[in-house]
Amino acid sequence: MDPALNPFAPGSGVKPPALVGRQPEIDAFDLLVARAKANAAGDRGILLTGLRGVGKTVLLNEFSELARRNGWLVVQFEAQPGEGGPEAVRKKLARELQLGARRLRQTSAWSHLRQQGLGSISNISISLGLQGLTADLKFTPGRADSHALDIDLEEMVEDVSESMRKARAGFALVIDEMQDLDPDLLGALLTVQHAAGQRGWPFYIVGAGLPSLPGRLAESRSYAERLFHYRKVGQLDPTAAAEALTVPIERLGAVLRGEPLRTVLAAAGGYAYFLQAYGRTLWEVASETEITLGDASLAVELGTADLDHGFFVSRWQRATRAERNYLRAMSQDGEGPTATADLIGRLGRDHSSLTSQRGRLIEKGIIFAPEHGQVQFTVPGMGAFIARQKE
Ligand SMILES: Nc1ncnc2c1ncn2[C@@H]1O[C@H](COP(=O)(O)OP(=O)(O)O)[C@@H](O)[C@H]1O
Ligand SMILES: [Mg+2]
Repeated sequence: MDPALNPFAPGSGVKPPALVGRQPEIDAFDLLVARAKANAAGDRGILLTGLRGVGKTVLLNEFSELARRNGWLVVQFEAQPGEGGPEAVRKKLARELQLGARRLRQTSAWSHLRQQGLGSISNISISLGLQGLTADLKFTPGRADSHALDIDLEEMVEDVSESMRKARAGFALVIDEMQDLDPDLLGALLTVQHAAGQRGWPFYIVGAGLPSLPGRLAESRSYAERLFHYRKVGQLDPTAAAEALTVPIERLGAVLRGEPLRTVLAAAGGYAYFLQAYGRTLWEVASETEITLGDASLAVELGTADLDHGFFVSRWQRATRAERNYLRAMSQDGEGPTATADLIGRLGRDHSSLTSQRGRLIEKGIIFAPEHGQVQFTVPGMGAFIARQKE
């Protein structure tokens, strides 16, 4: 069918042609927004956890949009692992704070922010390492300018949330890949969320990350569990998965049902990214309005090849030879998880050399630790992909 009309969109954070199966999450966020409008205090933030490709970033984007439409100050950024990560993420936070505040110029929050919040945003920007401020964000001496991250964050959040409360809106920090935040910033953020809950500030951290995220938060602050509503984002249920394909296809006047539909659904296994990938090849191969079983089988074959050459191989190529051996040893357990103790036997290596490989693979985002002493692939289907690789 006309390639120019292909509605499917495999890609990180790319808005799908039909966002399906996530109404409970959207409702939960909706409620938060409604409660902020009513100046109801004491809510928790929301954390989405799940493997890569299940649709967390898309949901975060939806939340941000919803909050912005309701006049919130929304600051969205992605954490970064590795050496330059902490510095980069602080600068990003500072920049997004300024941009986010400026977006509120035409709203009722602006006059309140000018009185109270903007000064601390300017001041904290300097402690976060951002230079070159524009003149319209004025400095207020004595707020958020101690250069101690935890103190400055708390003062800034207090000032901004008070302003937002007066405008019957809220202040959200929307953080993607949150498992990659460095311990200092993570700890400071949790402390502020805690203070916000106790003092009734409409400030919420809305995060997404791998299934290891709740554990990381609990390590950082013992009360972290009580600060958030945790929501697991996983495979779409069969009805939603079918709609992810049929709604965009029918919108364009084509038909997908019966055995052809079931064939594609079976290949995708309910994973959002895979549904988009197979949807795209399905559109490419179909020639008649009614999609046939032949189309579906070919689309699955081509879609799997696309995934192998993109989604999976990009991770595989990031691994060194030794790390690939590690991953291959993991793939004996299929999609896992694998007990790290089992890898010692399979690889014939000592514990400490495996620990450093494990650390590097976690930093590269290829594996994570679902529990102490376990490792698992961050993307669904990685075990099967590795089994298909000869070398
Ligand atoms: N609810 C959904 N319905 C259909 N497709 C979705 C849904 N959520 C995400 N997708 C698609 O899945 C892919 C991965 O989404 P993304 O949000 O990047 O996942 P994650 O952040 O969990 O890795 C994107 O191509 C996106 O369009
Ligand atoms: Mg994501």
